[in-house]
Amino acid sequence: MLAGDMAVDEIEGWLRERDADRLEELWSRADAVRRAAVGDAVHLRGLIEISNHCVRRCAYCGLNAGNRTLARYRMTQDEILGCVRQARGFGYGTIVLQGGEDPGITGPWLAEVLRLMEQEGPFAITLSLGERSIEDLRLWREAGADRYLLRFETSDRGLYEAVHPPVAGSLSDRLAMLGGLRRLGYEVGSGVMVGIPGQGYRSLAKDIALFRELDLDMVGVGPYLPHPATALGRGEVVRAIEPAEQVPNDADMAYKVVALTRLVCPEANIPATTALATADPQMGRRLGLERGANVIMPDLTPSKYRRAYEIYPAKAGSTQTPEECHETVLATIRAAGRTVGIGPGSRGR
Ligand code: 5AD
Repeated sequence: MLAGDMAVDEIEGWLRERDADRLEELWSRADAVRRAAVGDAVHLRGLIEISNHCVRRCAYCGLNAGNRTLARYRMTQDEILGCVRQARGFGYGTIVLQGGEDPGITGPWLAEVLRLMEQEGPFAITLSLGERSIEDLRLWREAGADRYLLRFETSDRGLYEAVHPPVAGSLSDRLAMLGGLRRLGYEVGSGVMVGIPGQGYRSLAKDIALFRELDLDMVGVGPYLPHPATALGRGEVVRAIEPAEQVPNDADMAYKVVALTRLVCPEANIPATTALATADPQMGRRLGLERGANVIMPDLTPSKYRRAYEIYPAKAGSTQTPEECHETVLATIRAAGRTVGIGPGSRGR
């Protein structure tokens, strides 16, 4: 059977697998598929966390609007362009602008930033700014944005609604937005958290099958990490589940999801995420690269803001400068025996 045809039952079996020898087989299959489909280059995406304002109240995220203890910031256009020039110095072929769902980031304001960025390029530009109107998404696409990241977090409708309270009465529908992005000509990325309280093995297996069904260009996954200023972090039970069914939120489970994602989406760009590096500070990024990943997103956010972009505590790199982050990432790529990608590193179709 082709890896891409793996059924939900088989995916679930791998998620429950504990035998070390069998898992070695999963890692080596994922690594072989990664090498054959996307090669040895590790593409670097310079990440700029442009705003930590957010109108949402997601039960897992430290940026949620109810968190009054967080000092909020929004970067200026000049500050963003400063980071963009630094990215060029580091040789990054892609810039990612990420932020909370912030109405202070207006459509026209960001379109102007995008046009100014184009003059510093060539870069591919990825946006990761939450659920935005189709008008904003069209404006930004026309102003030069190439890709958009929006994780669906879980395909289990009940769990999704339990952790994403509606804002101003409107239900959030991320799958619908992913379709809209595709029609606008964006490369589309999504993903999930691994081990959200209430997430069972079956539902995670279905998430992975959905990556394939959506034919995603980029898939980011990482362990759920509790934040004390959130409903889940305070221990509120949003969805009851049998303890034996609960997916653990550890690095080992996240590696399995990375490997299975590579098997179902051979050509996708898959990052070794910061959450993985936070759950396993010594080996997270390296093992991610060795078990299916082909992308790293070094953080370019200025030091004075970085600690305030606290989606979860003790985020890897939160005390580093952009230079230190860059060096750490290069060392990891060398240690894994891989090369640094050149150019935009788009999904080849
Ligand atoms: N733990 C792990 N990942 C988180 N994210 C948000 N909060 C957390 C958390 N507490 C992830 C979500 C979001 C991405 C930007 O960060 O998946 O889509």
